Amino acid sequence: MNLNLTTKKIETDIEIIITKNKKIKENKEILNTLGFKGEDEQCVILPESKKLYVGCSSDDKDSIKIALATAIRKLNTTNYLSAIIKCKKDLSTYVEGLELGNYSFDRYKTKKDEDKKEDKNIYILVDEITKENTKEFEDSVFVANSVNMVRDFVNTTPDDFYPSIMAQEAVKIASTNELECRIFDEDYLEENGMGAMLAVGRASRHKSKLIHLTYKPKKKAKIKVVLVGKGLTYDSGGLSLKPSDFMVSMKSDKSGGSAVLGILNAVALLDLPIEVHGVVGAVENMIGGDAYKPDDVLVAKDGTTIEVRNTDAEGRLVLADCLCYAQDEIEDIDYILDFATLTGACVVGVGEYTSGIMGNNLELNQKMVCDSLNSGELACMLPFNRYLKKTLKSEIADICNISSTRYGGAITAGIFLENFIKEENKQKWIHIDIAGPAFVEKQWGYNPHGASGAGVRMGVEFIKGLEDVKR
Ligand code: BES
Ligand code: ZN
Ligand code: ZN
Repeated sequence: MNLNLTTKKIETDIEIIITKNKKIKENKEILNTLGFKGEDEQCVILPESKKLYVGCSSDDKDSIKIALATAIRKLNTTNYLSAIIKCKKDLSTYVEGLELGNYSFDRYKTKKDEDKKEDKNIYILVDEITKENTKEFEDSVFVANSVNMVRDFVNTTPDDFYPSIMAQEAVKIASTNELECRIFDEDYLEENGMGAMLAVGRASRHKSKLIHLTYKPKKKAKIKVVLVGKGLTYDSGGLSLKPSDFMVSMKSDKSGGSAVLGILNAVALLDLPIEVHGVVGAVENMIGGDAYKPDDVLVAKDGTTIEVRNTDAEGRLVLADCLCYAQDEIEDIDYILDFATLTGACVVGVGEYTSGIMGNNLELNQKMVCDSLNSGELACMLPFNRYLKKTLKSEIADICNISSTRYGGAITAGIFLENFIKEENKQKWIHIDIAGPAFVEKQWGYNPHGASGAGVRMGVEFIKGLEDVKR
């Protein structure tokens, strides 16, 4: 699909019309006959009048995006080669609806419908083309493409996407965007006492990788943001093996790390005036004679000893060491965010479409929730409390990797991570559990079956919102 801006009503194969039924003047009768009521996700093509009508029950941004996704998916089932749509809201809404709705993952299909999709020219009709709306158009394409790149990473199977491949992808992103990129192997983890992350990857034939990307704007930045991502390229649960039904889809456990790579890609393309670091722990959690075990006591980079009582609570072990690494290696951090598909409990608690935002700084959490909602990603805050904090106590080590209570699992996982945040960063840290929306096995709105690219838009929106701070 080629997306273009135009001020002229170009002659195209089809015109896309987003409508509530009440507003239809033209073609009223035929639309009625076809049962078109203007409901969400309803779509009909009238070939003779060269119009595609798509329903939209309300005119909020999300409904328009869903309508556009519905329209483009319908067009993709036809041989029409061009379409035009009049822009009546923010341009970014149109770009996102079309670009995110057009995504499909066909890497493993022998018959691809690329030729149908690639050649379509879609024109967005605007009153005038200015510097501002051209920038808005280009920036939204950058963000949408970054989301789609992350979807590709996450949808790729564990046999085709393991830690060293994740590192390779990071190197590619770095070289196209002129980012600094450092990849560390297991020797580095060993030498630097990152015993928690090392243990999780020990039974895998794929060696763990620690990825560190840095984006520095041309003019020295006043703000430094650090993003840390859980990059479990597969989570079998380890010796605390997942039941079969729960293991399916665990290729998505790299979503947090993938989102971090996507945000770095977007931030560089947007040329934001903020320094952004991306630290990803790429690891595969497997079983075998060499596997780490429930009962093991691990030593994290900061010396904290961790009693392992469940090897399926592995993400927090990897993140613990990655958070330590980030805080040791990066000076004067202003904000530190981690993205992770951390707990099933978060999905149970808030549903599969919403991310859980946690941390010590209420105001910062609220900013993150607002930015996320504005970006089109659902999110809500989950509050820490002193009582749940006590449930991570271990009798034989400093902390236990699971809570003694089965309630509040998303929060206790967040509190576990909080133990690895240095005193000076306690108020600067946000934990984002994307376990629900990162991967949903059915189409929802403009998101396809599978990976959604969760985290990217909210992360970009958060960082963009910092532009004016400290200036
Ligand atoms: N990767 C999972 C969490 C997950 C579950 C992500 C469902 C996406 C969908 C994580 O490593 C895990 O297994 N967590 C355990 C923690 C438990 C052992 C305390 C969980 O949530 O069951
Ligand atoms: Zn797990
Ligand atoms: Zn996991």
